[in-house]
Amino acid sequence: MTSAYSNLLSPLKIGGIQIRNRVVFGPHGTGFGNDGTVNDRHIAYHMERARGGVGLIIMEATGVDKSPTGVTTAGRNINASTDAIIPSYKRISAALHAEGVRIFTLLSHSGRNTMMGSDGTPPKAPSPISMERTRDVPHALETYEIEELIANFAAAARRCRDGGLDGVSLSFAHGNMVQQFLSPRANHRNDAYGGSEENRLRLAREVLTACREAVGPDFVLGIRFSADEMQPDGYSLEDGQRYAVMFAEWGKLDFIDVSAGDNASMRSRSFHYPTISVPHAPLAHMARAIRDVVDIPVFAVGKIGNAEEAEEIVARGDADAVLMIRAHIAEPEIVVKSVSGRRDEIRECIYCNESCFGRQQRFGDISCVYNPRSGREVSWKPLGKGTISRRVIVIGGGPAGMEAARTAAKRGHKIELHERSNALGGQVRLLRETPHRHVYGRITEWLEADLLRAGVSVHLNSAPNADEIRSGAHDVVIVATGSRDTKPELPGVDLPHVITGRAFLSGIPVGRKVVVCDWDGKFMGTSIAERLADEGHEVSIISNAFFIGADGDLMTWRLQYERLLQQGVRMFPLHKVTSITADGVVHQDMGAREMLEPADSVILCTRGAADRPLFNELHGLVAELHAIGDAWAPRQLEQAIFEGARVGRSI
Ligand SMILES: Cc1cc2nc3c(=O)[nH]c(=O)nc-3n(C[C@H](O)[C@H](O)[C@H](O)COP(=O)(O)O)c2cc1C
Ligand code: SF4
Repeated sequence: MTSAYSNLLSPLKIGGIQIRNRVVFGPHGTGFGNDGTVNDRHIAYHMERARGGVGLIIMEATGVDKSPTGVTTAGRNINASTDAIIPSYKRISAALHAEGVRIFTLLSHSGRNTMMGSDGTPPKAPSPISMERTRDVPHALETYEIEELIANFAAAARRCRDGGLDGVSLSFAHGNMVQQFLSPRANHRNDAYGGSEENRLRLAREVLTACREAVGPDFVLGIRFSADEMQPDGYSLEDGQRYAVMFAEWGKLDFIDVSAGDNASMRSRSFHYPTISVPHAPLAHMARAIRDVVDIPVFAVGKIGNAEEAEEIVARGDADAVLMIRAHIAEPEIVVKSVSGRRDEIRECIYCNESCFGRQQRFGDISCVYNPRSGREVSWKPLGKGTISRRVIVIGGGPAGMEAARTAAKRGHKIELHERSNALGGQVRLLRETPHRHVYGRITEWLEADLLRAGVSVHLNSAPNADEIRSGAHDVVIVATGSRDTKPELPGVDLPHVITGRAFLSGIPVGRKVVVCDWDGKFMGTSIAERLADEGHEVSIISNAFFIGADGDLMTWRLQYERLLQQGVRMFPLHKVTSITADGVVHQDMGAREMLEPADSVILCTRGAADRPLFNELHGLVAELHAIGDAWAPRQLEQAIFEGARVGRSI
């Protein structure tokens, strides 16, 4: 045992079982499901984290009836409402047990925190109060439906036990159904399940009692609990402490996993799933508050980024165990690497949400922006040296080129990487110059360190032309030249007070009043606006998107939008820029009404244009040629790194 992590690595008894250490890969919808059961993709994904050293895995929120679990993952969840789940639970529990890892799952009913089905089926809830994200008014449960719900929880818990899992966690968190009953903001009933505190807690007691009866005394049964609703009209941490005491006193529970908040509120989601601008471990004090009043194991969760932070939380007595979710989506081997002196090989999560929550929102399944193998464990095997070593030249040292070079080198190829500027990193170097986004630098620092470890030969200030590349007799040429900065075709774009976002981030000064014209739609325009406002400029932002920053993940977006409003940034969504004059930007609303936004400086944010002349010059003249990332088409960091990895694996 390594003394630096002695608390974290000590075993923990939960009910009748023991976990080998206190690092937990906690519940999260992966979107890997296709028929409601656990499949090979889930198993390979969790096995990777088991081999990486975690002590316990709590699988994703799993439906207890046929209602959808969550808003964006309908049809991709696991569902425990029939016995069809049992054989697949047996497969995953046997696999994880063979690795010495315990496995629970989270049983959940989303209640109102979902949306109307395509056949018009409404969400269900204690009361007909819609949530902020979907606005669908739920059907208020009748008493007989509450009885069915309780029976469904119990039957699902029994299936977990029959499938060989070691325990079950019930969601009393994140504004899901049971919390909706606990909550004075979501429960406006005036029957036995609403009104007084005793009545609001009745469903929780009946669900716990029924589940305990279904699984028997020896099976681990716990809850995930939002200890504080973090809403003005919700229950407080003090209330949460009182509820937790009652939950424990009912004598059915083996652990409490302490989270917070309510998914019904967009703002709450940004804090209880803490995003890039939220400090680390913001919920640990809540775990402490609950641990102070109960005598069963308590877990802490929320932006606990590495083994050092986790050790501190356990050592301080805030919690008995620590859930690290996104940290393990990014890096499956946190424990193994931390204890074996490979700390600097860890890809630390930067809480950007780009490809975990962000992909879930857009594509339904999850991965990690700088670990594209995450979620692709079945189709992408671990990198290993092959029997042949090819000579590969990579042109361009941005994220796509770095990942291609790193991946190919690990497979035993001999790699030269050429970067025309004096440093690796590409556009990430610019992104670092905006508020809260300096942590993106960790991605390129990690890529750089890893490609050097893999033996890539790096040539800075080097831009070989097509003839030079051809004369090198390489087996493979990879063009990762990125994208060119562009200006849209508009009257006035060449006026002296008009610059691009990239030019601004490279250090070009601007005047007092700045208008940002945003065709990027993600975080470039909004982050430039935020930085300018922080620096005291008067800022406006004009975009043709439905809302400013529409293409970012909604949790990161929500807090940034709030900051922009608080800083007085003027916003013009669904507006079209028609021209730029010496006085400012002329733009049109959807009613084609034209107006002028005055400006001393104008910043144009676009996604750029693929920089591909080199690829075109080489096409047909070299043995094997690839263009990846923005050089193929300007997209996001995720696609750049993904394509780098894909080509690195293919050659
Ligand atoms: C992609 C994704 C999906 C999630 N889905 C759920 C869910 O369905 N139910 C739940 O209780 N928590 C869910 N979570 C929240 C996590 O369990 C955890 O509370 C949150 O991510 C904060 O922990 P972290 O900072 O270690 O990631 C999800 C998290 C992620 C990243
Ligand atoms: S995409 Fe970002 S937040 Fe999500 S796991 Fe990867 S680094 Fe962490």
